[in-house]
Amino acid sequence: MRQRLFLSPPEMGGNELGYVEEVFASNYIAPLGDFVNQFEHTMRHYTGTSHALALSSGTAAIHLALRVAGVGAGDIVLASSFTFIGSVAPILYQNALPVFIDCDESWNLSPTLLKTAIMALDKPPKALILTHLYGQCAKLDEILAICNEEHIVLIEDAAESLGAFYNDQSTGTFGDFGVFSFNGNKIITTGGGGMLIGKHEEAIEHARFLSTQAREPFPYYAHNTYGYNYRMSNVLAAIGVGQMEVLESRVQKRREIFSWYQEALGDIEGLEFMPELPNTKGNRWLTTARLPQGANPLEIVKHFEAYNIETRPLWKPMHMQPLFANATRFVDGSSESLFAHGICLPSGGAMERKDVQAVAQILREAL
Ligand SMILES: Cc1ncc(COP(=O)(O)O)c(C=O)c1O
Repeated sequence: MRQRLFLSPPEMGGNELGYVEEVFASNYIAPLGDFVNQFEHTMRHYTGTSHALALSSGTAAIHLALRVAGVGAGDIVLASSFTFIGSVAPILYQNALPVFIDCDESWNLSPTLLKTAIMALDKPPKALILTHLYGQCAKLDEILAICNEEHIVLIEDAAESLGAFYNDQSTGTFGDFGVFSFNGNKIITTGGGGMLIGKHEEAIEHARFLSTQAREPFPYYAHNTYGYNYRMSNVLAAIGVGQMEVLESRVQKRREIFSWYQEALGDIEGLEFMPELPNTKGNRWLTTARLPQGANPLEIVKHFEAYNIETRPLWKPMHMQPLFANATRFVDGSSESLFAHGICLPSGGAMERKDVQAVAQILREAL
C-alpha cells in the first residue's frame, strides 16, 4: 500500500528545530519568552495590523474576542453556518445565542441573508463571526458595511486563511478582531496554537490580561475577574517563527496545487471548484470542489481510503448539527447542498504534480 497521502500534513521549513534548540538553551521553555514576542511581531508585520496576541489555539482567540467585545449571556452572535465547530463553540462558552447565516455562491457568508437576519431579529446582534472558508476571502466590503451600519462587532475567523488577501489587504485585518489558527492541518503550524489580532490596542491588551488568568499587577496573586490559561508557549512560538519564514512560499505552492487540480479535472462536467472573488487572492489552503450531480462524497471518501488517501466531505453546516438544533438560522439550502455534494482533496505543500494527477485519476475512476 502506498504511503498515506494526508489532506494537509504539517510541513516544516527547516529552521524550526534550531529555534526550538535556542529555547531549550535559554531555558525559557515557559511561560513566555523572546520567540513569543518575535512571533507576534512577525504576524503584525505580515498582516499589517498593529496588535497581535499569541495564544494556545484559534478557538481560544475567538473566545477572547467575544469576551473582550462584551458578549455575554443572552446576547445574539451571528455566525457563518458553513464552518468548523471551533469557530462557534465559544459563543456557547459565553452563554450567548448563535444565529447562523448561510453562504451564497461564494461559499462564504451571504451578505443578503445577513441583512435579512438583522431585520428579522427582535434584538440587535452584538457580534458577527465571519469565516473565510478553506482560505478563500468572504465578501468583506459588503459585510463590513453592514456591520458598521448596524454597530456589530466583526470577528474575522481567518483560521484557514492566513496568507489570503482582499484588495491587497490581509484577511483578519478588516474587522475589529481577526483570528488565525496554527493547528496541525493549517497552512503553517506550531503543532497547535492561535493568534488574535486587532486594531484596538486596549481590546488586545485586555485579551492579553485575560489570557494569563487575569492576574492583577501585584507581587501576590490578585484577581478582580476570572481569566483563562490561553497563552502560547515559547517552544511553540519558536516553531511559529520558523514557519512564518516559509509562509509566502507555502501559499504559492497551495495555489499551484490548486491550478494542477484545475488542469487535471477542469473538463469534468458539473464539477465546480470553490470560487475566488475578484480582487482577492485566497491561499487555497485546501482544494475543494462540488462534485457532479449523483456523486456521493461519502462513497468517494471510501474509494480514496482504499488507496490510503485522505479526503473529506465539506464541513457539515452548523445549523445541521444536533448541538444547534434549536438555534435560529437564516438559510436557503446553499451550504446543505455543498455539504451533500462537495469534497476536500489532498492539498499538502509537499505534493508534486504527479501526486495531484494520481488523485485526479482516482477521482475520475470513483465518479
Ligand atoms: C474555520 C475555523 N475556525 C476555527 C478553528 C479553530 O482553530 P484551533 O483548532 O486552532 O482551535 C479552525 C481550525 O481548527 C477552523 O478551521
